[in-house]
Amino acid sequence: MPKTPTIKTALPGPRAKQLIKLDKSYVSPSYTRVYPLVVDQAEGLWVHDVDGNVFLDFTAGIAVNATGHCHPHVVKAIQRQAGQLLHMSGTDFYYTPQILLAEKLASLVPGKRAKRVYFGNSGAEAVEAAFKLARWHTKRELNIAFFGAFHGRTMGALSLTASKTVQKKHYNPFVPGITHIPYAYCYRCAYNLCYPDCDLFCVKWIEDTLFRTTVPAEEVAAIFVEPIQGEGGYIVPPPGFHKEMYRIAKQYGILYVADEVQSGMGRTGKMFAMEHFEARADIIAIAKGIASGMPLGAMVAPAKIMDWEAGSHASTFGGNPISCQAAMATIELLEKRLMKNATVQGKRLMQGLHELQKTYECMGDVRGKGLMVGVEFVKNRETKEPATAWRPRIIRKAFEKGLLILGCGENSIRFCPALTVSAEEIDLCLTIFEEAVREVCS
Ligand SMILES: Cc1ncc(COP(=O)(O)O)c(C=O)c1O
Repeated sequence: MPKTPTIKTALPGPRAKQLIKLDKSYVSPSYTRVYPLVVDQAEGLWVHDVDGNVFLDFTAGIAVNATGHCHPHVVKAIQRQAGQLLHMSGTDFYYTPQILLAEKLASLVPGKRAKRVYFGNSGAEAVEAAFKLARWHTKRELNIAFFGAFHGRTMGALSLTASKTVQKKHYNPFVPGITHIPYAYCYRCAYNLCYPDCDLFCVKWIEDTLFRTTVPAEEVAAIFVEPIQGEGGYIVPPPGFHKEMYRIAKQYGILYVADEVQSGMGRTGKMFAMEHFEARADIIAIAKGIASGMPLGAMVAPAKIMDWEAGSHASTFGGNPISCQAAMATIELLEKRLMKNATVQGKRLMQGLHELQKTYECMGDVRGKGLMVGVEFVKNRETKEPATAWRPRIIRKAFEKGLLILGCGENSIRFCPALTVSAEEIDLCLTIFEEAVREVCS
């Protein structure tokens, strides 16, 4: 595989054009393709399209290909399992990969309490399961989630989501009893305050205002939170935020549910992003990077909380044996080297972006942990006016130069490459990104 992007055709190329035309006739128009990439094959961070163009991938299929595209260790595990057992439904029968993966995940999730694992096929299903378990366990009806949150698109998960109205338009009514509150988005604080002088006002407000006026705390089942907001803009809350949130949750018997679907499985340099905040959660939702691209979602909770009865929740395909084996192989790689690499290369990426920020006024904020890094674009550093029109142009330019990146939030770009990324690939990404920013913003 080449170590530099190669763009040989106009984009999209002739074969890609044909396929996109066909796609437009048959595939759901609800998908959000931002540039015309038609993928043929991929290895590591390098993606070949159907016309032979080669791209450097800093999207990892939306933070999924944790071990890079087609890592041989993962592929072997998949091939081995495919020849042995494709499906038997872990809902009705037992099989080894699901049991062993549950044991492994229970040991990875921080906390001494005995834990249990529920398996689904996606992030939304993991969140949906957490949503139902919180109701089941607490017998309470209300829930709290955050503005900017993305928890998935099934009706329960979508009811918790508050990212973009296009995701919710025409789907009312949602699951009742959910209150959305401001996230600790310090770059644009909802209360116009500054950390640390704010003394975490956004958390105190929950007790002092929300619980005293509209939401009786004793009726709240759970607070759903992304440790680092993903779709909302790769927003890192300040130290102390999750600890204080967890303290309040405990005080009122509320479950604190960490949606680690995007931030988990080593992406931030720790197995779970919550570990950066030295904070705990009662329930954890996992998906995306867990199985390097095979569909799998998991919801992990203490055995005392996962007390629902047989038949109360299940999924035919959840915990598929191949996905479970891919997850075991993925975890092995994460533990051996890749989480460490995420920390090292994440630092390199952040340093490079901070360096660029000195030159480019439009890079209003650079933030992240490990390889979950975002840049927020503004028209003016002082006013912080969002540069919403520039963002898609930068992404398109980068694509034309052979770098794959995606947006998040209203005016941010995210970098979420495979955890196998090398220093050379980080530098190459920075070089192409700078060219794109220069051409659009200056
Ligand atoms: C934090 C978070 N939760 C849930 C989801 C939903 O995951 P899925 O698309 O696998 O249903 C996503 C997807 O982007 C996510 O980022």
